[in-house]
Amino acid sequence: MEVIKKTVFKEPDKVKVLFEKGGERGSAEKLARTLGVEFTESPDSVKNADIILRYNKEGLFFESEGQALHGDFSKLRQRLEKGRVDHELLVKAAKFKGEKPEDLAVIDATAGLGEDSVLLAFAGFKVTLYERDPIICALLKDTVRRALKVQWLSDAAKRMTVIEGDSIAELPKLLDPPDMILLDPMFPAKKNSGLVKKKFQMIYLLERQSSDESDLMQAALAAHPRKIVVKRPADGPFLGDLKPGYSLSGKTIRYDCIVL
Ligand SMILES: C[S@@+](CC[C@H](N)C(=O)[O-])C[C@H]1O[C@@H](n2cnc3c(N)ncnc32)[C@H](O)[C@@H]1O
Repeated sequence: MEVIKKTVFKEPDKVKVLFEKGGERGSAEKLARTLGVEFTESPDSVKNADIILRYNKEGLFFESEGQALHGDFSKLRQRLEKGRVDHELLVKAAKFKGEKPEDLAVIDATAGLGEDSVLLAFAGFKVTLYERDPIICALLKDTVRRALKVQWLSDAAKRMTVIEGDSIAELPKLLDPPDMILLDPMFPAKKNSGLVKKKFQMIYLLERQSSDESDLMQAALAAHPRKIVVKRPADGPFLGDLKPGYSLSGKTIRYDCIVL
């Protein structure tokens, strides 16, 4: 929390939570309180803001420098429906031979905007999502809340439980070992940041660079899962220098599987 205020809110007065008609008032007030920034219903008072967290009838938008970040699982429809989700490398990496996803509990320890988690939930896994950044977590909760109201997504959304917290602290405290833990800390920054997609530029703005990758791996091991799956850039180093048992590789992404 402290670190986030230092990195994102150099000037907290320039960060505003704006509530508009049809928005979730309770969530907007809670986010303003958590971040220690102003809650307003007046469009005039956000004119000079650097960052606006706008709650309206379409959900929560993080806005800065003319760009907006907003979670939306509907855009994944092509990848999810008609059995296509079972062809996703992540789903293949998460499965256990002869066991149904419906019987398996997985943890996404670095949830972000939940796009990997929704693939898993759509395939049938019960997913608990941990996100430590309060703004990203608010965007994520809002995305899952809206998905609950979309007919073709609602069953998957019901299988997703979002927890605001730091996995490094929380995973070692779990009483029930999960079947699988997914780790996807921030990708190492690209040399040519101009090529980084808009969504990721916004996440870079929000997120602390993960300097604690080996702590994350140690915390995952301490939760005693049956398997850890690590999402990496295709040519990236192993997380925490731990060599996986096997990897599933795509064009740009690699899933390293550590079976325990
Ligand atoms: C690359 S993004 C994950 C993207 C995600 N897999 C998706 O599909 O949307 C990494 C996220 O992990 C979060 N994160 C990093 N370390 C964490 C930790 N120790 N506990 C909880 N969240 C963490 C970051 O705040 C960030 O939102």
